[in-house]
Amino acid sequence: MSDNQMFPGFGGSSAPAMPPRAPVTSPPLGDDVSDVPLSDPLPFEKPIRREDLPQEETPREETPRGGVPAVAASNEAPSVVRESAAAPSDGPVVMGPTGRPMPHLPEPSVLTSHGNARVISMCNQKGGVGKTTTTINLGAALAEYGRKVLLVDFDPQGSLSVGLGLNPHEMDLTIYNLLMERDVKVEDVVVPSGVPGMDLLPSNIDLSAAEVQLVHEVAREQTLQRVLAPALATYDVILIDCQPSLGLLTVNALTASHGVIVPLECEYFALRGVALLKTTIDKVRERLNPRLEIDGVLGTMFDGRTLHSREVMDRLVQAWGDKVFHTVIRRTVKFSDSTVAGEPITTYASSSAGADSYRQLSKEVAARCLDV
Ligand SMILES: Nc1ncnc2c1ncn2[C@@H]1O[C@H](COP(=O)(O)OP(=O)(O)OP(=O)(O)O)[C@@H](O)[C@H]1O
Ligand SMILES: [Mg+2]
Repeated sequence: MSDNQMFPGFGGSSAPAMPPRAPVTSPPLGDDVSDVPLSDPLPFEKPIRREDLPQEETPREETPRGGVPAVAASNEAPSVVRESAAAPSDGPVVMGPTGRPMPHLPEPSVLTSHGNARVISMCNQKGGVGKTTTTINLGAALAEYGRKVLLVDFDPQGSLSVGLGLNPHEMDLTIYNLLMERDVKVEDVVVPSGVPGMDLLPSNIDLSAAEVQLVHEVAREQTLQRVLAPALATYDVILIDCQPSLGLLTVNALTASHGVIVPLECEYFALRGVALLKTTIDKVRERLNPRLEIDGVLGTMFDGRTLHSREVMDRLVQAWGDKVFHTVIRRTVKFSDSTVAGEPITTYASSSAGADSYRQLSKEVAARCLDV
C-alpha cells in the first residue's frame, strides 16, 4: 500500500497547537523484532553463578525427609528474577522480568492543581493484545494517585465503555456526536467512569460511521485533536483506546496525542506487524504531529514460567531498548472477570497481582512522561 493510500490527504496541519512538554530522551529504535531468529542464546539461559546472587536473599535449600533435595521447576525463571516489586533505591540490584535491573519507581508526586494534560494513545493494530485493559487499569491506577484522568473510547466495538459498565444501547451521546456535530462539546458527552477522578468519553458502533464520514471533512486527521483541545485544561492525562487497525480513526488518535503506549502480547506472532506500526507512528510524526513520542512498549499476558514468554520479552528489549517498560502485565483470568464486573481490576481485585502491576505501571508512566 502506498503512503497516499494509507493516509490520503496528508499535508499541513491547521489543528490547534498542543502545549509544549519536556522532551523525553529516547534511544533509536531497532528493526522489526520478528526478523530476529528465536534460537539465539538468551540472558535467562546463561548460567548464574552463586556468588552473583544477593546472599541475604537466596533461600536456603532444605532437604526433605525423603532425602531428595527440593528443586525449582525447570521451566521457572532463575530465583534472582523478582518480578513485581521495584527495588528500593539503596537496596541490592534486582533483575526484573524484562531481564534488566529493576529501577526504583517513586510514588507519583502529589498534585495541587490539574490541567495541561498529556494525551496518550494505546495503539497496536493487532487485536486482543490488552489495549482496552491497559487503558482502563492504567487510568484507574493514575486516578488512585490523584491524577484527573479522561478515558476516550475510540473503538467502535465500545469495549472500554462496556468494560466500565456502560450499556452501548443506552448512550445518549457518544464520541461520534462529538466528532461529527459542531455544537456538541466534551462536557455534553463525558460520563463518570465509576472510579473517582476518572471520566469517560463513551463509544458504540456509531463510531464506525465516523470513519467513512470523516473522509470528506477538511483536516480530517485532526478532528479528534480539535474536539479534545478544550479538555486539556481540565485533566492531567487523557488515555485514548484505539481500535485494532491503522485506519483514519487511529491516525486521528495519534495526531491528537503527545505519546503512544504500545501494548504487546508476549507471544511470538504479536511481534509481527510491529514494523508497520512503527512506520505509521513515524509518518504521523513527520506529517501531522511532530511532538508524537513513543512513551513505552508494554509486555502483556506475560507468563514468566514459559521460556517462550521470556524469549519474546528478550526480543522486545533487543528491538525497542529502554522504550520497553520494566513493568510487565502477567496473564491472569482476573482481567476477564473484572471486565464482566464492569470495573477496573484496581477496585474489583484491589490487592491482586494484576492490580499491583498496573499501579507499578502508573508509577513508571508518571516518572517517564507525566511528572517531568
Ligand atoms: N494480562 C492479561 N491476562 C489475561 N487476560 C487478559 C490480560 N489482558 C487482557 N486480557 C483479556 O484479553 C482479552 C483482550 O484484551 P483487550 O480487550 O484489552 O485487548 P485489545 O487489544 O483492546 O483488543 P481489541 O484489539 O479487540 O480492542 C480480554 O478478554 C481481556 O480480558
Ligand atoms: Mg480494545
